[in-house]
Amino acid sequence: MIRIAPSVLAADFSRLSDQIAQAEAGGADWIHLDVMDGHFVPNITFGPLVVAAIRSCTNLPLDTHLMVQAPENFVGRFRDAGSDYLTVHQEACTHLHRTVERIKELGAKAGVAINPATPCSVIKDVLGDIDLILIMSVNPGFGGQAFIPATLRRLAEARRMITESGRDICLEVDGGIDTITAPQVVKSGADVLVAGTSVFRQPDVAGAISALRESFEKQ
Ligand code: DX5
Ligand code: ZN
Repeated sequence: MIRIAPSVLAADFSRLSDQIAQAEAGGADWIHLDVMDGHFVPNITFGPLVVAAIRSCTNLPLDTHLMVQAPENFVGRFRDAGSDYLTVHQEACTHLHRTVERIKELGAKAGVAINPATPCSVIKDVLGDIDLILIMSVNPGFGGQAFIPATLRRLAEARRMITESGRDICLEVDGGIDTITAPQVVKSGADVLVAGTSVFRQPDVAGAISALRESFEKQ
């Protein structure tokens, strides 16, 4: 099953609940929440208060992508706010294994994200512990960036690692996903597609999600 996780980063924040309702109507599977701290990435977005507000608008799983330094200091608060998936960056964790264990103790699903320049092999020794791998297809920090083509090779490598592990691990891709790149990433092994601009910057949000789904289902 291929899931679509619209990223609210590209949504109209003055009417967030309406935008999320449109995404649900279009068949969104998860809602992707991009948390940025101004340190790990050169941008700031929102914190647990906004996640809690979004929690009150939808029953869809909340997929929280923590682009923050030392995320171990914040996972508890984002779990309390209603996150179902908590994904931390390998590059931001000195003790990645400990942070993953903490997320699972909190009762959330644990994800590990890697930037475009980080080899997939860094995840190998936590594969037995995690529920999701997030391969960044842009350098994190901003929506609306162009998809980096080398991501396709990286997704295929991550997919091989998951198959070899024998575990049920989601393979998520994030950045520059639209009706052109979606079929390519699905072919390369991705099964959770994050999409910001190609969903929320379109006049018909629900229709944009359907179009995204058609783009990979018809191939
Ligand atoms: C980038 C974020 C993405 C972003 C994707 O740092 O992690 O989730 O919202 O946006 P688009 O789909 O516009 O590339
Ligand atoms: Zn993201």
